[in-house]
This record gives sequence, C-alpha cells and structure tokens, in this order.
Amino acid sequence: MPNHTPECYLLTGGAGYIGSHSTLALMQAGHQVLVLDNLCNSSPISLDRLGQLAGRAPLFVQGDVRDAALLEQVFASHRISAVLHFAGLKAVGESVQQPLAYFDNNVAGTISLCKAMAQAGVFKLVFSSSATVYGEPETMPIHESTPTGRPTNPYGRSKLMAEEVLRDLAASDPRWRVAVLRYFNPVGAHESGLIGEDPHGIPNNLLPYIAQVAGGKLAELAVFGNDYPTPDGTGVRDYIHVQDLAQGHLKALQALQTRTGLNVWNLGTGQGYSVLEMLRAFEAASGRQIPYRIAPRRPGDIARCWADASKAKIELGWQCKLGLAEMMRDAWRWQVQSPNGYA
Ligand code: NAD
Ligand code: UFG
Repeated sequence: MPNHTPECYLLTGGAGYIGSHSTLALMQAGHQVLVLDNLCNSSPISLDRLGQLAGRAPLFVQGDVRDAALLEQVFASHRISAVLHFAGLKAVGESVQQPLAYFDNNVAGTISLCKAMAQAGVFKLVFSSSATVYGEPETMPIHESTPTGRPTNPYGRSKLMAEEVLRDLAASDPRWRVAVLRYFNPVGAHESGLIGEDPHGIPNNLLPYIAQVAGGKLAELAVFGNDYPTPDGTGVRDYIHVQDLAQGHLKALQALQTRTGLNVWNLGTGQGYSVLEMLRAFEAASGRQIPYRIAPRRPGDIARCWADASKAKIELGWQCKLGLAEMMRDAWRWQVQSPNGYA
C-alpha cells in the first residue's frame, strides 16, 4: 500500500543535546522530523521545548535503535528520506568501565540501524562521529586526510569502528550516501535558553563544569594539567557552538542529494582555545569569578586538537558563524534559566 504520510527525516537520539538543536534547525527549515530516542540520556521535556520554539513538536517514538522489530515498524509507517544518527553513549570515563555497553550501543546500534534502512530502501545517512577518531596527531590543524589514529578509550574506538562499518557498507553498494561528521568540541545552547546540554551528575566536559561552578553548584574547576606543550600549558581544543553544528547537518543533508559513497567532514571552527582561555571567557560572559586549581593531567587526554575546517567550507558551503563570546553567553543563559537542566 502506498504510504501517503509526508516525507520526514529520522533523527535517532534527537532528544539529546546535539540532536535536539538539529531537530529544531530542521523543523525551522520547514522539514518534518521524527525522533527515535530511548531517553537513556535525555528528557522528553526537550521535545516539549522544541514544540514551543518551532510551533509544533517533532514526531516522537520512544525506543532503541537496536530493536529491529521497532525499526521495521518505524520505517514501514513513515516516509523517511534520510536518517541522522545521533543515538549513542558518549561518556569517555564510563566507556572504560563498561566497554561492552559502548560497543553494543555505538557499533551494534549503527549496524542495526543500517540493516533496517537497507531493508526499507533508505540509503542516506548522516553519522555523528568525533574528532577523537584522529587520536593524537603530530601536526595541527587536523584535516580529513590526517590518518585516523588510535583513540585512547573504548568510546573513541567505538566511533572509529562504526565509521569503518559505514565505509565498508558504502563500498559494497552504490546506493548508500553517507556523511560522516567529525565533531570537534560542541558547546553552548540555543539562544532562547530553552534547550541545552543536560549532563547527569557531575559533568565530565569542561563547559558544563565551568557553568556549574559559575552558577554556584560546584566549588571550583580542576584544570587537568598545566604542563602540556601549549602556550599556557593547559589543553587546547576547538570549541564549536552547537547551533553552528546543527546547521552543518542541514548542509550535509543537502550535499547527500548529489554526493554518493561515503564523505567525511570535520565540523569545527579551526580555532583552538586553552582551558584557561575558556575560563576567562566564561568569567567575562557571566560576570562571575570562577575559582580553579591546577590538578594532575586526566588520563587519556591529548594536548591539542583543532580542525582544518576548509573541506566543509568548500564542499558544504558551511562555516561557523558564532564565536567564543556567543558560546559562553548562551551556555550561561542556559545555566541560569535551567540550573537543574530539564529536571
Ligand atoms: P546525548 O547523550 O545528549 O544524546 C544522545 C541521545 O541518544 C540521547 O538522547 C540518548 O537518550 C539517545 N540514545 C542513546 N542510546 C540510544 C539507543 N540505543 N537508542 C535510542 N536512543 C539512544 O549526546 P550528544 O552530545 O547529543 O551526542 C550526540 C552524538 O554525537 C553521539 O553519537 C556522540 O557520540 C556524538 N558526539 C558528541 C560529542 C560531544 O562532545 N557532545 C562530540 C563528538 C561526537
Ligand atoms: N578539562 C579540565 N577540567 C575539567 C574538564 C575538562 O581541565 O573538569 C580540560 C580537559 O583536560 C581538556 C579540555 O578541558 O583539555 C576539554 O575537555 P572536555 O572533557 O570538555 O573535552 P575532550 O576534548 O576531552 O573530549 C570531547 C568529548 C569527546 C570527544 C572529543 C572530541 O568529551 O567525547 O571532545 O570531539 F571525543
């Protein structure tokens, strides 16, 4: 029977941090979005907020990407033109404790999704990868032609494995069109302060940690090492506003209209900032002083990591529009408006 429902994009993990901002960007560009999320690291309130911001909520199915029967049903009952696969686990430290959970979710979950897509005749996929797949390259900036390295933890290895699965899949059948997006360090929130990053417990990542110190929930920031070979000795990263990142997904989807096979794009700003530069910028945005102490290096951390973002600029016509001040302003607004996240 022909399916007369409107065409939509399926976003796995669309209730999460990056997925929710991307859902909004797609809806605001006039697209229909179906979110599939098991809510293991997100709240359904994010979907209500999307409804508030976009004037209509996305379609939502609560479930797991590893549930083959559910996926079959989802693809049979919606006209899905492409899939954006955000769903996965992302806590580096936890991945060391629970490697099987990470390989199962991030690798087996991707395989399960691709099987269901092929069965349903849907071959366009945008995959959330990470700069972590480069390991610790000797030279900066990191270009897509920089060889992937040896990620320092099971999370990173699960992303690299998933990429390799997708590469082999795209090579096996010319109908596949895959965009592998290697994110650098996503930060910030939607400018409304209605959606943002909602880490459970004590945050692992720098920006949510700084925001909670500024907001008075945590006493001080531990700066993990000031003896790296960087200008001020602290780690340098390429922080990218989550709103710019969301726009990158729209551009990748457009590119898949014409590009076949598997394409890799770095999504970063091309600019690195140190931990202390981030701290000072957050102080400026929040007007709060942020106490900190120098602590030992965190195992597995690299000294420096920033993107050569020229491939995405040339091939996708995408580049970041928001700078450090906007990242900090929006992270702070989200912290002030939702000190307990969606809780
Ligand atoms: P997030 O945890 O906020 O979002 C992931 C979403 O996926 C959550 O809503 C979670 O409930 C859902 N989910 C997890 N496993 C699922 C499953 N098996 N079935 C259905 N839903 C499931 O994380 P995020 O920061 O938005 O990251 C999104 C993607 O981007 C992840 O794949 C992550 O690895 C990748 N990534 C994130 C970063 C970062 O720093 N945030 C950097 C590089 C890459
Ligand atoms: N840092 C601190 N104190 C903290 C937290 C972090 O000094 O409390 C430092 C880190 O040592 C590092 C920098 O801040 O130098 C950034 O650390 P994050 O944990 O925010 O980010 P990472 O670069 O370590 O890792 C992030 C994601 C990974 C992803 C990687 C590349 O957590 O999942 O970016 O995209 F793989």
